[in-house]
Amino acid sequence: MIKNLIVFGTRPEAIKMAPLVKEFAKNKNFETRVCVTAQHREMLDQVLDFFQIIPDYDLNLMMPNQNLYSLTANIIVGMGSVLEEFKPDFVYVHGDTTTSMAVAIAGFYSGSKICHVEAGLRTYDKRSPFPEEMNRQISGRIADYHFAPTTGSKNNLLQENISEKEILVTGNTVIDALLESTSIVGSIENKEIEDLKKVIHLGKRIILVTGHRRENHGKGFINICEALQTIALENPDVQIIYPVHLNPNVKNVVYEILSNIDNITLINPLAYPAFVWLMNQSYLIITDSGGVQEEAPSLGKPVLVMRDTTERPEAVETGTVILVGTDKKMIVDETNDLLNNKERYKAMSDLHNPYGDGKASERIVNFISSLSEKN
Ligand code: UD1
Ligand code: UDP
Repeated sequence: MIKNLIVFGTRPEAIKMAPLVKEFAKNKNFETRVCVTAQHREMLDQVLDFFQIIPDYDLNLMMPNQNLYSLTANIIVGMGSVLEEFKPDFVYVHGDTTTSMAVAIAGFYSGSKICHVEAGLRTYDKRSPFPEEMNRQISGRIADYHFAPTTGSKNNLLQENISEKEILVTGNTVIDALLESTSIVGSIENKEIEDLKKVIHLGKRIILVTGHRRENHGKGFINICEALQTIALENPDVQIIYPVHLNPNVKNVVYEILSNIDNITLINPLAYPAFVWLMNQSYLIITDSGGVQEEAPSLGKPVLVMRDTTERPEAVETGTVILVGTDKKMIVDETNDLLNNKERYKAMSDLHNPYGDGKASERIVNFISSLSEKN
């Protein structure tokens, strides 16, 4: 029996790996186990609960305000024991987190084949996003198989001399997760969504905000909060709803500047189905998130991205996403324009699906199955 170990640690990795866990579980040719580093704790557990995944191994590593040195070291050491016990043929890592990079290194040491899901995204600016750009380049360098979400990401890998035989364009598994969540949310009552309905002000347009990037910590987040304050005061007909990331470098600044403004509602991170529901209710999204940049085009929601570069150019090209950095004036001006200029808003809110059709996980499982048949 072929042995798979699927490893993740943070909220976005969990959302994007959950469909792969489900897809492998259907295939009896594989013994598939799940390991979480728990680089995130509460935000990871929200996803595990929703997708009903019980990890086989939980390294439980999160520390308050953790630093990259100890996190990286603890993941490599923790993974050593899991890899030595299970001896997987294939280890699956996702994207660009410290979990992805450190697990790829540990998996390589163990002799397993490394499969990189969401491979080939690049800004080619090694400090932006930090440390994610280097994390994904390292995971990509180590990986034996690369599951690229788009042809653009495949082309980046080809340019780095990775053999075409090792790359498969799959679409992004986030669309698999989005479709599954939308279908479940449509069919059951969700307490978190019912609670959200109580805080939404009827008749106001919703601006949904999220943010957490390390390169925005400090001055960047102060600018972002001041911009949101200005937008709220200038536009009493909008309600800004902001599920605040639990990172203290984000949370402390956001609550200090944005508490007690009538039309700004600060809430805890939402479980995935409630967040998807809220995206759907929104007029506009302002974020520095990678995953949200991919989900919003499928929902027809314009996005202002608070970053200077993006490794996800497809939605910028189709017109749903605009980069605004963390410049206060730029965030305020672009938001006001989208609130007032109906034609531009309409052009940006056309539905696009540059990131997939919901079958990415199926393609990955078929690819690994065909490899195993050849051997
Ligand atoms: C991490 C990833 C980033 C990813 C993001 C998704 C790295 C270096 N960063 O950033 O790529 O986009 O997750 O959200 O891999 N915390 C909690 N509870 C939680 C989660 C976080 O309290 O459930 C707090 C803890 O104090 C923790 C801190 O946030 O130490 C930072 O977590 P960390 O994973 O290091 O960084 P993120 O900013 O979350
Ligand atoms: N998300 C969520 N609850 C929230 C905010 C975001 O479930 O309160 C989801 C969102 O739909 C997306 C993912 O979390 O799939 C993005 O996570 P994050 O922005 O933390 O990380 P990134 O994608 O930037 O790595």
